[in-house]
Amino acid sequence: MTHPPRADWWKRAVVYQIYPKSFRDVTGDGVGDIRGITDRLPYLADLGVGVLWLSPIFASPMIDNGYDTSDYTSVNPLFGTMDDADELIAEAKKRGIRILLDIALNHTSTAHPWFQNALAGGDKRDWYWWRDGRCGAAPNNWRSIFGGPSWTKPDGDDQFYLHLFDKSQADLNWESPAVRAAIHESMRFWLDRGVGGFRLDVVTVISKEPDLRDVADPRPAPLYRHIAGGPRLHEFLREMRREVFAHYDCVAIGEAPGVDPARAAKLVDPADPMLDMIYHFDLVAMNPVTGGDWDRRPFKKIFTDWDRGIGADGWNSVVVSNHDLGRIVSRFGDEGRYWKESAKALLTLVLTQRATPFVYQGDELGMTNCPFTSYDDLDDVWAKTTYRLKREAGADHDAAFAAALAMTRDHARTPFQWNDGAHSGFSDVKPWLPVNPNHATLNAAAQAGDPDSILAFTKALIALRKSDPLWIFGAFEDLAPDDRDVFIYTRTFEGRTATVALNLRGADARVTLPDDSVMLSNYAGPFAHDALRPWEARVHEASH
Ligand code: GLC
Repeated sequence: MTHPPRADWWKRAVVYQIYPKSFRDVTGDGVGDIRGITDRLPYLADLGVGVLWLSPIFASPMIDNGYDTSDYTSVNPLFGTMDDADELIAEAKKRGIRILLDIALNHTSTAHPWFQNALAGGDKRDWYWWRDGRCGAAPNNWRSIFGGPSWTKPDGDDQFYLHLFDKSQADLNWESPAVRAAIHESMRFWLDRGVGGFRLDVVTVISKEPDLRDVADPRPAPLYRHIAGGPRLHEFLREMRREVFAHYDCVAIGEAPGVDPARAAKLVDPADPMLDMIYHFDLVAMNPVTGGDWDRRPFKKIFTDWDRGIGADGWNSVVVSNHDLGRIVSRFGDEGRYWKESAKALLTLVLTQRATPFVYQGDELGMTNCPFTSYDDLDDVWAKTTYRLKREAGADHDAAFAAALAMTRDHARTPFQWNDGAHSGFSDVKPWLPVNPNHATLNAAAQAGDPDSILAFTKALIALRKSDPLWIFGAFEDLAPDDRDVFIYTRTFEGRTATVALNLRGADARVTLPDDSVMLSNYAGPFAHDALRPWEARVHEASH
């Protein structure tokens, strides 16, 4: 079969991820909404992003904030109406911005009519994974990614259903052709409305070995590795390409836990099209202490390994932060002493790779993790499960809260900091999650008029990326892989080479740098050829 060449706007664009619940509330209920996104399109257009990835906007009981979907072809009333979605798609288009929908297809909410039918023993029983227990216990030893068992036996049922995530998120049985057809139809529904594609949630685990055998180590990372790339994954994705994506000018981005670069390369091979790009989980396990003394070499190696592994034929993405991770500056930077310098250096890294960069909402301001003080302020189902399991294992409140606080995804989900007002300009009323108290000084309004702000720097980086195909397609090479602190790499395109130098530590570093003039930096000149200041980032002009 021959495939028509696909447009490559998604290689050239910068993707901006919006967590709708936390971006902007115009309806005054403390929860962000679709009209809030439309309202802020001028801000996003000014930033220069070309694609908005919206975390799920579909009907959902919101136990996992939309990743527990109860109807794929509806809009969650909490976020607005179908008219609001149509308006957003149309208004974004006027500004050259495409809307991507995040869709969780490995599982549905147990409130989905499909699951309710299955539960009642209807014709959709086999749309989910039902198994008999082993001597009354779960059918296998898999643990839920969020903690606890991955099987639940509903009251009155004699079988267990599988849920890799919360018990309210039942895994769909992709072996069923009817399931796949229903999914394809849901996706076409949205593409026909004009969306630019999808971010496919945990797509690498949709195909399971039907014998669902025990795993040696049931913790999240090994479990993902065990299931990912299941026997029919390629077949299911090729079918999805044929039935859905091939008919539209759209992009398919897969969230890809459990796969290494070699397996990922197959999923994005243009000669055998399945997905257009994926993003990996190799950075997920890294949680250095902010400003701490950690070895940057393994961090840098991840970028090199993925660039090499996917090669020039496939296509990479750079996702260093999102709604599941701590804030980029809090994890990998120094949110205390070098907040501004380190945020800018990390954004330089994200925006100068050979890969589509993803900027998570608020990272362009250097938003930080939130100092939550009360367990009641947390919302994340994973954090709450962590707390409950700790308590059940005998931990006292303080210890269990500390464990939840260390991993809660709520850090990335606090309301967007638009200004220094009572609710940070996010809403007129108390928001669903606390606003980070640092919004008094850290906010978009404060940065808007400041040429030295992180916001201004992000804009300059996005403009730089769009100004020269070297930044999109140029070959990547790490010049100093053995340096503990400094990341120096080149991008080479049609005989021209540009150098990026990043000091990823809050101390002076000795380096050797080219003579080419510096186009962009988080410090003022003069620029030494043999030293970088703490968290200094420089982009040198390309030369022959
Ligand atoms: C993905 C999402 C995460 C969600 C999980 C289950 O990892 O990013 O937010 O909880 O899948 O759908």
